Amino acid sequence: MLTAYPTASLDAHPPYLYPDYRSTVKRAPARPLVVIPHTLSELTGPVYGHESLGEHDGDLTRQHTGEPLGERIIVTGRVVDEDGRPVPDTLVEMWQANAAGRYVHVVDQHPAPLDPNFTGAGRAVTDAQGRYRFTTIKPGAYPWKNHANAWRPAHIHFSLFGPSFLSRLVTQMYFPGDPLLALDPMWMSIPDERARLRMMSTFDIETTEPEWALGYRFDIVLRGRDATPTEDPHDD
Ligand SMILES: [Fe+2]
Repeated sequence: MLTAYPTASLDAHPPYLYPDYRSTVKRAPARPLVVIPHTLSELTGPVYGHESLGEHDGDLTRQHTGEPLGERIIVTGRVVDEDGRPVPDTLVEMWQANAAGRYVHVVDQHPAPLDPNFTGAGRAVTDAQGRYRFTTIKPGAYPWKNHANAWRPAHIHFSLFGPSFLSRLVTQMYFPGDPLLALDPMWMSIPDERARLRMMSTFDIETTEPEWALGYRFDIVLRGRDATPTEDPHDD
C-alpha cells in the first residue's frame, strides 16, 4: 500500500481556472489551498466487493427488454497505479449519453431522443491484472452552452477510487479522430498534449468482435507522472 502521495504527481491535471471553460471561473479557488496532512482514513478504503455488481452492470446493451439503438462497442483496458502496477478488485463506474447524444437526466433537455432501452450507466470490477470491460453503445456528440455553437466531443465519463481516497479519479474517455476535440475547452484545458492523449481511447482490432462490436482500449493511470487527467464530475 502506498503511504505517501506526492502532490507533484498531480501535474497531469488541468488548472482549476481555465476561462475558456466557463464554469471554472465560478468554482476555481481564489485563495491558496490549505495542505492537510494525510491520515489513515485517506490511505485506506473504500473497499468494494464483486457482490455489489448487478448481472448486467458491465453490459449497457442488456439492461432493458430490448436492445438500444446505435453502434455497439466494447471498451476495455487496465487500471494501473503510478508505478504501473495493476490495480485489481477496484470498482470502475462509467456513464454516458446515448447514440443520439442525450442523457437520461432531468437537466438534459436538448432535442434529441431518449432511448427506452438505454440508461447509460455501468459498473465493473477489475480482475487480478487490473482489467475491466464494458459493452455499450457509442455515445453521440451533444450541444452545451459553454460558448456559441459549443458541442462536446463523444465521450464516456469514468469514476474510480482505486486503492484509497487519494487515488480517486473522475475523467472522460474520448474517441480517436473526433473533429470536435480541438474545439473543446475541457479537452484543451489539459496543458500537456501527452497527458491529453491519455484520455483518448484507441481502436483495437484485437478487442473487436467479428459480426458484433468494435473494440476500444482505454488504460487508466491513477496518479503519478503518467496519470490520466481528471475532469470535474459535475460537468458535461
Ligand atoms: Fe458528458
